[in-house]
Amino acid sequence: MVARITIDKQKFINNVKKVISDQPIMAVVKNDAYHFGLEFTVESFILAGINSFSTTSLHEAIRIRKMNKNVNIFLMNASVEFNTLKQYNIAMTLPSLKFYYEHIESIQGVKLHLELENLLHRSGLKDQYEMEEVIRHNNNLPQDKQAIIEGIWTHFGYADEFDGNEYEIEKNNWLTCLNYMMTLDYTFKFIHAQNSASFVRENGIFDHHTHARLGIILYGSRPYSTLAPSTTEQSFTVTANVIQVRSIKKGETCGYSFQFTAKEDCNIAVVDIGYGDGILRTRSKHDALIHNTRYPIRGLMMSHMFVEVDDTVNSGDLVTLYSNDIRIDEFTFKGVGANSEQISALNHHSLIKEIK
Ligand SMILES: Cc1ncc(COP(=O)(O)O)c(C=O)c1O
Repeated sequence: MVARITIDKQKFINNVKKVISDQPIMAVVKNDAYHFGLEFTVESFILAGINSFSTTSLHEAIRIRKMNKNVNIFLMNASVEFNTLKQYNIAMTLPSLKFYYEHIESIQGVKLHLELENLLHRSGLKDQYEMEEVIRHNNNLPQDKQAIIEGIWTHFGYADEFDGNEYEIEKNNWLTCLNYMMTLDYTFKFIHAQNSASFVRENGIFDHHTHARLGIILYGSRPYSTLAPSTTEQSFTVTANVIQVRSIKKGETCGYSFQFTAKEDCNIAVVDIGYGDGILRTRSKHDALIHNTRYPIRGLMMSHMFVEVDDTVNSGDLVTLYSNDIRIDEFTFKGVGANSEQISALNHHSLIKEIK
């Protein structure tokens, strides 16, 4: 009896195929592919028909190249390891005009995607005029001194927000910039902007774009709550086991620091999973699934949790914390934490990890 995380590979691949439905996708595989495991995920995405990948870490980008000679790899954070980028045929973002001029001497032959800063203000050129300046400056250099400017992109930080009009603003900023750049006599091989939320709320890829750059929806979680669960399906489960069931009298407490005080006599299942395995404290305010019934979690410790159960639950029973019936995104929408936050927290060293 050990707590485990189990990924159903075929279900994962089938879901990706369904989500992308033959549209060209650049898969975001940063942070060890949203913690699914980079090698497993890249291989699965390729089987599902994806051939472009992006990450924020050069180290991960190199691992992808070592797996596959032909896929497109885009580094979303700038690096100054220009020889490594060229050696492994990795394109990277151009994060600012300052970066361009600072490194102009050494950036020849490096593949660049011009980034529009937009509302996120995390990285990028300010506007289309800065982009035009880079293109013109680079074109005026001798051929063997030029960078290879092959892409243009932005990131939408508000696509999953419906309350304000920020998404419309960042979308307009981007489309205005792109339209301007398309009037220049210049061809971009890669044009990408949309994340999962933008991809679904726009019913697919914008015109003239070569890719949508998707993360969370490929991993089985909905980017916002009004989407039907069938939009994307969760292909992994996190399960644990009832070690024993103990009866607690009304008024008795259990867990460290009186985590739970019984209002009535009740049964408490002691389960072999805890925050040390990556179950967030906020998650423990909600339910666990035992025999298709939901039971309230009453306490969370490093290696254990308490679940209040009825007489049908016995030691040895399976307790599901996450599955397609009790999904990560359900708890995102209940305020437990972002989808990626819950997935990233899972401790793949203490949980047994199985891919079936
Ligand atoms: C630059 C960039 N593009 C795309 C994505 C994918 O976003 P999502 O997981 O919402 O699809 C991310 C994720 O954080 C990102 O940082």
